[in-house]
Amino acid sequence: MSWEESTRQKMLHLKLPTDPRWVGIAEMQIEDILVDHAYCEQKAASSCISLIVRYSDLDYLVDTLTPIVAEEWGHFERVMEQLRKRGMAFGKQRKDEYVAKLNDFVKKGGSRMEQLTEYLLMNALIEARSCERFKLLSKNIQDEELQKFYYELMISEAGHYVTFIEMARKYHDPEKVNKRWQEWLDYEAAVLKNMELRGDRMH
Ligand SMILES: [Fe+2]
Ligand SMILES: [Fe+2]
Repeated sequence: MSWEESTRQKMLHLKLPTDPRWVGIAEMQIEDILVDHAYCEQKAASSCISLIVRYSDLDYLVDTLTPIVAEEWGHFERVMEQLRKRGMAFGKQRKDEYVAKLNDFVKKGGSRMEQLTEYLLMNALIEARSCERFKLLSKNIQDEELQKFYYELMISEAGHYVTFIEMARKYHDPEKVNKRWQEWLDYEAAVLKNMELRGDRMH
């Protein structure tokens, strides 16, 4: 089975595909996309670090997320390299409306492991959506170097997506996790549907 086929089965259970107009406008604002993307990678690394600190007693979590921190930081370095070689400035962090909206959906309270489920599912969702967007970029933009770059990142983030989902099912009742995952997917689709389409954001 090709990577594409297996991924289609395993992932991108996303309930709303990205508006096909997005990639065209993103390509026209590639500097903004790269800057926003650099911050996404940084946030992915810090979110794994937070989980490691918060759940330091969970060996499997710590041992699985530690190399992912390094990978996400490696992605950040690579995005920076793309920016620098194009003479583009890094600039300030932009408001991340997408992640802020997802954060609103995190259930407050509950047991420590229920909280962990929320964090893992939110991370899984961001990975899945990033993967979908990287795929669109890799298939549609003209810049050949960026096509390859986004293809590689798509594969890496797909792996992270699977890791987060499987970890959620390992630490909490899988049936409850699956039910909650469906709620997260519905919520994310509604968030995206109501967000303004803009080419200067990765999400
Ligand atoms: Fe990444
Ligand atoms: Fe990732």
